[in-house]
Amino acid sequence: MANNRLALITGASAGLGAEFARQYAAKGWDVALTARRLDRLDALARELEEKHKIATITISQDLALVKGVDTILRELKEAGRYVDALVNNAGYGLPGTFFDTSWKDQAAFIRVLYTAPIELVHKVLPGMVERKFGRIINVASLAGYAPGASGHTLYGSVKAGLIKFSESVHAEAQAAGHNIHCTALCPGFTRTEFHDANGTREAADQSPDWIWMKAGPVVEAGIEAVTKGQPVVVPGAVNKGLATLTKLVPEPLGRAVMKQQSKRFWMKDGD
Ligand SMILES: NC(=O)c1ccc[n+]([C@@H]2O[C@H](COP(=O)([O-])OP(=O)(O)OC[C@H]3O[C@@H](n4cnc5c(N)ncnc54)[C@H](OP(=O)(O)O)[C@@H]3O)[C@@H](O)[C@H]2O)c1
Repeated sequence: MANNRLALITGASAGLGAEFARQYAAKGWDVALTARRLDRLDALARELEEKHKIATITISQDLALVKGVDTILRELKEAGRYVDALVNNAGYGLPGTFFDTSWKDQAAFIRVLYTAPIELVHKVLPGMVERKFGRIINVASLAGYAPGASGHTLYGSVKAGLIKFSESVHAEAQAAGHNIHCTALCPGFTRTEFHDANGTREAADQSPDWIWMKAGPVVEAGIEAVTKGQPVVVPGAVNKGLATLTKLVPEPLGRAVMKQQSKRFWMKDGD
C-alpha cells in the first residue's frame, strides 16, 4: 500500500474533491485528503480504506492561512510520502460585489483559490521532476472563459488565471521532457455543495436541469485529460458548447448577457 502512488486532493471534504478521492482510490491510488472539516475527511478515508484497501492520510487545514501549504506538505513528509498527483480543488464563491466586500474576505479568497494552488504546484514540482512523474489538476471553471461578471468580481479572474497557469506549467514540463502533465478542469454548473456554501442555492435551482452535471463525470473528464496530457478540459457537451460560444459571440454582446445573468447569482438583495 505504501508503494501505491499518492494523490493529494484539496477540498476533499465535499463535492468534486470527495469524488476525486473516490475515483483515485478506485484506481488503486493512496489518497491524502485535506480541507478544514476533519470529521468528514476521516469518514471518507475510512470508507475508501475499507472499500479499496488503499492507504489514506487526512490533514485538516485552512488554505486561507499563509502557513497552510507548508503545514500540509510537512505532514506528508513526516508520514514519509510524496505527491504523485496534485488536485487543486478547494474553492468557494464569495457572495456580493467587490465594492461591498471586505479586503480581508477578498484576500482570503485569493489565497484559497489562487495563491495556495500555485504555491502547492511550485512546491511539489521539484519532487515530480526528480521522480520523472507528476499529474496536476487545477480545478478552474467555465467562468474563466466568460466575460467579467457584475459582482463576485474575482471568481472569473482567478479561474481564468488558473487556466493560463495550467497551460504554461504543462508547456514548460513538456518542453523539459519531465513526464509531468498539468490540466485545468473547467466545469460548468455541477451538483455539489458549492451553491449552498455561497448562498446561491435558490437562484441555482432555477437553472434548467440540462445545464447541470453530476460530480462523477466531471471528475472522470479531469482524470482522463491529465492522464492523456491535455492542458485544458471542459467536461460535458453543454459546457463545451458554452465554452465555444464565449469565443464566437461578439465581446459587447457577451458582456451584456453576462451582466444580466450574473445579477441573479452574485448580487445581494436590493443591489
Ligand atoms: N459546483 C460547481 O458548480 C462548480 C463549477 C465550476 C467550478 N467549481 C469549482 O470546483 C471546486 C470544488 O467546488 P465544489 O463544487 O466541489 O464545492 P463544495 O462542494 O462546496 O466543496 C468545496 C471544498 O472546498 C473546501 N474549502 C473551502 N474553503 C476552504 C479553505 N479556506 N481551506 C481549505 N479548504 C476549503 C471545502 O472544505 P471545508 O469547508 O471542509 O474546508 C470543500 O471540501 C472549486 O474550486 C469551485 O470553484 C465548481
